Amino acid sequence: MDTSNKNSVLYSVSNFMERVRETKRRRAAMKMRKGIHKKYLQKMLLLMGVIFLGSCGHHKDEYHSVVDKFEDLGKDYQGTTLSSDPFLEEYNTIEITEGGHTFLIPERKSELQSYKCSECHSKPVAQLKGKEFQKAHWNIKLQHANQDAMNCLTCHNAQDMDHLISLTGSQIDFNYSYKVCNQCHSKQFEDWKGGAHGKRIESWAAPRASFTCVNCHNPHKPGFESKWPAKFNTQKRQDRD
Ligand code: HEC
Ligand code: HEC
Ligand code: HEC
Ligand code: HEC
Repeated sequence: MDTSNKNSVLYSVSNFMERVRETKRRRAAMKMRKGIHKKYLQKMLLLMGVIFLGSCGHHKDEYHSVVDKFEDLGKDYQGTTLSSDPFLEEYNTIEITEGGHTFLIPERKSELQSYKCSECHSKPVAQLKGKEFQKAHWNIKLQHANQDAMNCLTCHNAQDMDHLISLTGSQIDFNYSYKVCNQCHSKQFEDWKGGAHGKRIESWAAPRASFTCVNCHNPHKPGFESKWPAKFNTQKRQDRD
């Protein structure tokens, strides 16, 4: 046998042996996997059994359903210890109850520039007009509803300027001005009471404190201006409005 022949035989033999080893390895792997599957299945069955037994067992700490668990654990629930109080210190708030909802809203009178109104409005408006009187709060122009439906005295009380007035003539304190708005905007009012329209002050934790209508809407011009993102083209704003 010359060397090259000898080499090729040796090569074939080692090749064959290698394949045998490879087959053995594969079989072993298959076996192992099957074993794992089997063990896995056994564990699953055991677990299901435990769950099944557990759900029907009437042990003290086990429940038939998640709802049962919530109900049981919730029995002694005292609420969370989180509180909005520290955040609300800087706000001057008043408590209101509307339709079963009790919450805080910001006080308004101290925020009004020209309160008390009666400092000037001690006589009928007509007598305040004229050359000898300076124009006051001239910057207030009404842009709310149709002029036939609304003027200053729809909301302000000509007999007592320090108070607002309802459509049927009852007095409304400036701190409760939402009672003026809710006469015509009952849908937003309902949503606001429940907390869907408007916004919480500072935090969601109790006690609930919400902004009141006039914190966001100027009663004299309640609509918001539309806003446009920064322009990156040459289109003029008027073209889009
Ligand atoms: C500094 C004095 C002054 C104060 C304070 C003041 N007003 Fe007046 N107000 C006037 C005068 C003057 C007029 C007459 C209208 C004008 O300016 O020509 C007037 C007119 C009005 C009118 C009628 C506008 C019209 O033409 O029908 C209303 C409503 C009104 N005031 C509401 C208030 C309310 C509400 C307050 C308090 C939050 C207030 N004013 C505080 C001076 C005052
Ligand atoms: C839709 C109801 C409504 C109408 C109409 C209305 N007001 Fe008012 N006005 C209010 C409310 C509510 C406030 C209190 C706002 C707040 O709490 O910030 C107020 C506040 C004011 C104030 C005090 C503002 C300040 O910061 O000192 C003046 C003055 C006033 N109104 C004058 C007028 C005049 C004049 C007109 C007519 C041109 C008019 N209002 C029409 C509801 C109205
Ligand atoms: C007497 C009825 C009446 C009262 C009171 C009243 N509103 Fe209105 N409001 C209207 C009408 C009418 C419109 C116009 C509705 C429309 O254009 O669809 C309007 C429009 C609005 C709008 C939408 C403006 C826009 O341009 O989209 C807001 C916000 C608003 N009011 C807030 C208030 C607030 C806040 C108060 C209380 C201070 C108030 N309204 C009191 C009748 C009223
Ligand atoms: C925290 C701010 C905030 C408070 C508080 C708030 N609003 Fe609004 N309101 C908004 C915003 C924001 C809009 C949407 C404006 C828009 O889409 O242009 C709006 C819209 C409205 C509209 C117009 C609805 C429409 O579809 O065009 C009315 C009316 C209105 N609010 C009334 C009220 C009344 C009444 C209250 C009090 C009971 C109130 N809002 C409290 C922020 C507020």
